[in-house]
Amino acid sequence: MKILITGANGLISRKAIRLLSQGKDHQLFATSQKRLNFPPEVNFFTVNLVYSDLNQLIDTIRPEVLIHCAAMASPDACEVDRYSCNKINVEVTARLASACRDYGVHMIFLSTDFVFDGLKGDYTETDTPSPISYYGESKIEAENSIIGLNTGATIVRTSLVYGHDENLSRQNLVLRVIDNLQKGKPYRLPTDQLRAPTDVNDLASALKTFTEKKIGGVFNIVGAQKLSVFDFARQIAAVFGYNESLLIPISASELDEPAKRPLNSSLDITKAKNIIGYKPTPLIDSLKNLKQELLDF
Ligand SMILES: NC(=O)c1ccc[n+]([C@@H]2O[C@H](COP(=O)([O-])OP(=O)(O)OC[C@H]3O[C@@H](n4cnc5c(N)ncnc54)[C@H](OP(=O)(O)O)[C@@H]3O)[C@@H](O)[C@H]2O)c1
Repeated sequence: MKILITGANGLISRKAIRLLSQGKDHQLFATSQKRLNFPPEVNFFTVNLVYSDLNQLIDTIRPEVLIHCAAMASPDACEVDRYSCNKINVEVTARLASACRDYGVHMIFLSTDFVFDGLKGDYTETDTPSPISYYGESKIEAENSIIGLNTGATIVRTSLVYGHDENLSRQNLVLRVIDNLQKGKPYRLPTDQLRAPTDVNDLASALKTFTEKKIGGVFNIVGAQKLSVFDFARQIAAVFGYNESLLIPISASELDEPAKRPLNSSLDITKAKNIIGYKPTPLIDSLKNLKQELLDF
């Protein structure tokens, strides 16, 4: 099957590309703004999606499935540069969605737990979104533009994705915690922000299933365990053997960040378990696997 993946510089896209390009079942096309090194079996090209004719892009490649990962994915960047956030997160997604409708392409869109306000937690796919940041607003607007076309697209809401790959455009929490602790630097983390951190390999496997089976609808794809960001960092320190006394517990209100974050944005994964047999790796096993991956790198 021909698959086009945007945002190839990001962690999620990279892992999905790696997984889908194993074997001979799929022909991969991957795009990003900056040039990257991909294995020769991946057709990589650079493009700024904001300034591109997206109909022409889809017409030229004619993929069966589009996995749309490109985004301004930093909530703080979105909060301070709403114009650019709107262009890539909302406008590009809506234009790609309509191109996918016109060319009969199954679209898979990456969305976020930040579409919720975090007052309830354990959100299901049918809970009503109520974002408290511009990033969350942009993602729900994008989701709605896809849903409005009624094409049977897949919307994957994920959260606090972690893992490793070379030359990432953005670090993730696990790598930041490791980096700080390795350097003996104290690191402040909130005890009152609850998340279900997601192993990127579990997410990539789910994306592979959605791609190959073209199962549409909204799906929560997050980790198995809900815990505070502070406790997550403690688990990282324990598995990687670092001094956890460098981790400083604070409340989210002490963080000086441009974007507001939901307190409890944990997502319920029952639907994904039932429909695609999603089975996230237990947190400690996943961190141990990542430790091994970093040692082998
Ligand atoms: N990471 C998470 O914890 C998380 C959680 C929830 C949802 N998500 C969603 O999952 C998706 C992927 O996240 P990620 O963390 O892997 O993303 P990321 O590391 O921030 O990477 C984003 C990618 O989008 C590309 N991009 C941005 N603007 C572009 C433009 N105008 N034209 C073409 N490409 C553009 C970037 O390309 P260059 O680097 O080449 O500029 C980069 O490859 C996003 O939609 C994000 O909102 C992520």
